Amino acid sequence: MTPISFATGHDGQTAAEPAYPMARTCPFDPPAELARLRAENPVSRVRLWDGSSPWLITRYEDVRRVLSDPRVSSETDRPGYPIQSEALRIGRVFTRSFIGMDDPEHARYRKMIISDFTARSTEALRPVVDKLVNDLLDAMERGPRPVDLVEAFALPLPSMVICHMLGVPYPDHDFFQSCSRALLDTTAGSDAAARANDELWKYLTGLMAVKEAEPTDDILGRLAQRYILTGELSRDDAVCIATLLLVAGHETTANMIGLGTLALLEHPEQAAEVRDGDTAVVKSAVEELLRLLTVLHSGRRRVALEDIEIGGVTIRAGEGIIAASESANRDPSVFESPDELDIRRDANHHVAFGLGAHQCLGQPLARLELQIAYPALLRRFPDLHLAVPLEEIRFRDKMVVYGVQELPVSW
Ligand code: HEM
Repeated sequence: MTPISFATGHDGQTAAEPAYPMARTCPFDPPAELARLRAENPVSRVRLWDGSSPWLITRYEDVRRVLSDPRVSSETDRPGYPIQSEALRIGRVFTRSFIGMDDPEHARYRKMIISDFTARSTEALRPVVDKLVNDLLDAMERGPRPVDLVEAFALPLPSMVICHMLGVPYPDHDFFQSCSRALLDTTAGSDAAARANDELWKYLTGLMAVKEAEPTDDILGRLAQRYILTGELSRDDAVCIATLLLVAGHETTANMIGLGTLALLEHPEQAAEVRDGDTAVVKSAVEELLRLLTVLHSGRRRVALEDIEIGGVTIRAGEGIIAASESANRDPSVFESPDELDIRRDANHHVAFGLGAHQCLGQPLARLELQIAYPALLRRFPDLHLAVPLEEIRFRDKMVVYGVQELPVSW
């Protein structure tokens, strides 16, 4: 990588703005360059794929401050908003949902589904998740070895759970997983992204029409009956919500299961603690893996609505901001030896689920799935190990959600 000088002045601008996201050198760590910025130039300009140069915020306290500040906007349409890729610019169905809106509009939509994602509603799903986990592990046990853990377990589990909650037929998983992959691939061309966007749009529009005609007891069914048919929500807006939930509901957790399992396999003593430990150990391990791996690894994107001062730098109204949660979660002033996996540390103030108005709606669900999945997998296969050398594992560097492409394992 070209050496970067940080010698310039008070506005955080550097002689050469580093391209963001930067390249990783270790698959379990964010790019080393982030640590340098955090220490030397914590609020600085970076250059994005489209030539724009938003501000990158790398310190934990500053990231929290930005994400809780009502003077920053999440509206993807605003000039200056640092959009992550061409595919997401085109994938309007996704960015047009409430994750890309500000309050009060954002809160109005979020409220329509929030009761399905409370800690209590999620806890009620425990028997469903337990059964799905057991069934998937049974199938793995019966099947050939080695097996790709992503295909056999990490991806199906959250996909089945979100399908169950939304009322989306799981047999359609190849279709919606491939659309979702195209939308979250930062290297996808406009044609592939537009195709994925249109196909998913058509599919979910058709499904919403069915749910309007025939009531079903699931999230999309309730959206149709309570909000579309009463005129409070257009079918198009319901489709945007459905897309967000379907995509966010499976990609993130799937990658946490895949990459988290790999991290545990690389630390066998800690894997054994997760396998044999009580609920408190498992909960703590899940928070630590969320912190360490921060699979949404390219920052939370915002744009300033007013001039705001962060870390001594004035960010002007209309300028883009990237609050680098992947860097905040490795801030040594908050987490001791931040690059080490320590499942016993108190990590639950991490920002892997974001913060503020847009803090992850599905976090109780993600936690439930991860708290069940890791120990169940390790108990079923106490001898679980990688079936190829670590160097052969391919990582998802260019995807919006980081993780492993596949994880060949045996036991
Ligand atoms: C380990 C798994 C997960 C991680 C790491 C994760 C991470 C995040 C993060 C960082 C945000 C904030 C986005 C921002 O500030 O711009 C977010 C938002 C969101 N997540 Fe998750 N998520 C996970 C699982 C889920 C699941 C299972 C669902 C279920 C549907 C979900 C649904 C959402 C929704 C709807 C939002 C938008 C919230 C809003 O804008 O108000 N997530 N997630």
